[in-house]
Amino acid sequence: MIENSIVYRASKDGTGGPIKFFSFGKARGGEIWDREGKRFIDFTSGWNVTNLGWNHPEISEAIIEQVEKNVQGLLWGSDVIQEEYAKALTASLPKELNACMKATGGTEAIEMSIKVARAYTGRKKILGFNEHYHGQLFASLALGASGAARERLAPLVPEITPIQFPEENLGNEVFEKFLSDLEELLAGEDIAAIVTEPGIVTGWGSTAIAYPGFLKSVRQLTAAYGTLLIIDEVGTGFSRTGKLFAIEHESVIPDMIVLAKGISNGSVAIGTSVGRRDIFEKAFPDAMLISTFGWTPLACAAALKTLQVHQRDKTWDMAEKKGAYIMKTIKKDLGGVVVAVRGKGMEIGVQFKDAETCVRVQRSALSGGLHVVVGSGDNMQLMPPLTISEEQLDEGLHILIEQIQHAP
Ligand SMILES: Cc1ncc(COP(=O)(O)O)c(C=O)c1O
Repeated sequence: MIENSIVYRASKDGTGGPIKFFSFGKARGGEIWDREGKRFIDFTSGWNVTNLGWNHPEISEAIIEQVEKNVQGLLWGSDVIQEEYAKALTASLPKELNACMKATGGTEAIEMSIKVARAYTGRKKILGFNEHYHGQLFASLALGASGAARERLAPLVPEITPIQFPEENLGNEVFEKFLSDLEELLAGEDIAAIVTEPGIVTGWGSTAIAYPGFLKSVRQLTAAYGTLLIIDEVGTGFSRTGKLFAIEHESVIPDMIVLAKGISNGSVAIGTSVGRRDIFEKAFPDAMLISTFGWTPLACAAALKTLQVHQRDKTWDMAEKKGAYIMKTIKKDLGGVVVAVRGKGMEIGVQFKDAETCVRVQRSALSGGLHVVVGSGDNMQLMPPLTISEEQLDEGLHILIEQIQHAP
């Protein structure tokens, strides 16, 4: 039975489950209210969705304007606003990424990208990384699902398997071994694509940071062996990590970049894979890249306004500055229960000594007026709206630190 007050908690061993704890009333900017009228500071952005703050007025206006014009697109044609959005989005990405697939969200765009990779390369195998989350359908699950969940849901899509993600604290020798093992796999020239988040894990297994140079090295190796690189920026895109897109941190140009979540700031469902036009065109007849509700004019109007606001306000700078402030403040007041604080921009993980302590702190922070979620097991994931005011940020940090310090 699904109740509307259920929020899901992922966990590394697949034992995560629904937590009944939040009855959503309304939200605005960096604040959220439950149905009893209790106010909370929001440190979730609905899990990296409302990066510009909840219910952004300019985006709502753009949607209302579009309602007056046209709301549904065609499978065999394009509306003006769809073309305008495609132009603006591709202009904000490296010039090689010059074509967009129309999708309704992240999972669909990931699945489409996998189909494109198989159709384009004629190869079957796809590699993902352990504990990366790419969506709910069988191919996207197969990329990163691990352990018990993988077993229970089997059979997943064949020939899609995860490998170990090289984390930042590995040491150079182990990272070199990772690269040589990967090269050995790729040298078989039968891997169609590698799918990865861009050096920071924001879904399952969060919040893990990759070893420095991870993305650049994977790009070099995939290019050398004819394997496509699909970068999932569903969680990191739209300024979350301190850049408009996280690929900018290492100046990596993938063959496809997948975007959703923050793309329309949580207003209308939309997702996309932006990639090389020659790849999409070759793959199109077999991959059947169609989606009835992908890129509706309403969603495009919302996404276009979202992108324009990010660019006008340089929202990525807010993420970089406030993210550094959060890290500094939390690290300063670390109690014995916190093992590590990791992050990039305003995607920050606070790792506790164990999962029980993490959940206990989350629950007590919630009672104290901070809306915050557990990422996986022992990791609390902080993802405040990037536009949150300094006062609200301090209020939220104060609640969190107090609970951390009082945790047994
Ligand atoms: C990194 C990542 N990729 C893909 C997805 C799937 O996106 P959607 O929920 O829009 O299908 C998610 C959703 O949480 C995600 O975090």
